[in-house]
Order: sequence, then structure tokens, then C-alpha cells
Amino acid sequence: SPPLHDALKPLSWLLGTWRGEEGKGDYPTIKDFKYKEEVKFDHVGQPNLEFSFCSSHYETGKPLHREKGFLKIQPGTSHLALVNTQNVGIVELSEGEVKGQEITLESHTIGRMTFGKDPAVTKIQRTFRLVDADTLEQVVHMETSATAPAQHHLSIQYKKVAL
Ligand code: HEM
Repeated sequence: SPPLHDALKPLSWLLGTWRGEEGKGDYPTIKDFKYKEEVKFDHVGQPNLEFSFCSSHYETGKPLHREKGFLKIQPGTSHLALVNTQNVGIVELSEGEVKGQEITLESHTIGRMTFGKDPAVTKIQRTFRLVDADTLEQVVHMETSATAPAQHHLSIQYKKVAL
């Protein structure tokens, strides 16, 4: 693959394929659940990473929540934008910062289908953290039209399975 764009050096620790075998999900309005997820961060030499997050049912392996998008960095800064489409009919634009091997993001725009199910998602907060060279963690909090402020929805650790 082409050389990594210089602007992406602060994000190089995300690159690769990661697999989470025991994600934990909850929310005040739903039953606790476990899930699996495969995550890929890749690039084509442009100053953005492309990613996919593909979750599946803990027992059956059936595909569940899926996301695809781009992670952009404002060149010369630690400022990030995540541009993301979710299979549940949500588009998410989040912004935040990379500090060392940790990223924090919060949505400023969430687009929604006219026929989307209630409750509407009104805020998404994410953190990514490199726990060690082989272990990545993601934590997601969200707010909905029925529940504010933001509360925990997802925590998962992924192991690197390919470069
Ligand atoms: C439920 C949003 C990612 C699994 C929900 C609900 C919302 C939501 C709004 C309904 C809550 C309610 O009824 O009050 C999101 C957002 C995500 C996300 C914004 C990403 C940023 C995931 C992922 C999984 C997942 C990765 C992995 C399997 C579930 C499950 C439920 C749920 C199992 C309960 C479904 C049900 O009871 O019908 N999510 N979700 N979600 N989510 Fe997520």
C-alpha cells in the first residue's frame, strides 16, 4: 500500500484489523448484552483513514450493527473529524482530539431517516485507546430523545489480528 500520509502519523496506531470477542453493551432502556466486532482501519495515501466496524451476535455470529466511514485529521493539529454511516440509518459527524494513543470524539451532527425508529439518537460520544501494542479499546456513550444526559452503551477490547 502507499506510504501513510504525514498528517496521519498521530493515528498510525489504529491501522490494521482488530477483533473483539467479548463486547459488553447496556443502556437504561434495554437488556444487557454481549457482542463481537471486527474493526478495520486502512488508508490509500490520502490524509484520512477509512474504517469499518462490523458487529455480530455473541452466540450466533449473525451480523448486527455496522458502520463505515472516514477519520480525518486537520493537518498540523490534533483535531479530528469522524464521518460515519451506520446501517441503522444514522449518519454521524463527530469531532474531537487525538492525544498520544487516545481519541475522544463527540457528535455535533446526527442525521436520521424520516422513518427511523424511536428513540432518536441525539448524541454519540466515543473514546478509542491503545491499551497495549495488540489491544485497542472503544467505549461509546449515547443520548437519545428518551434519555439524557449521555449514558454508557458499549465497551469492547479488540486484539490486532492483521496489519
Ligand atoms: C439498542 C444506538 C451500536 C447493539 C440501541 C438503541 C439505540 C442504539 C438508540 C435503542 C435504545 C432504546 O430503545 O432506548 C446505537 C448507536 C450505536 C450503536 C448510536 C453506535 C454508535 C451498537 C453496537 C451493537 C449494538 C455496535 C452491537 C451489537 C444494540 C442492542 C440493542 C441496542 C442489542 C437492543 C436492541 C433491542 O432491544 O431491540 N442502540 N447503537 N448497538 N443496540 Fe445499539
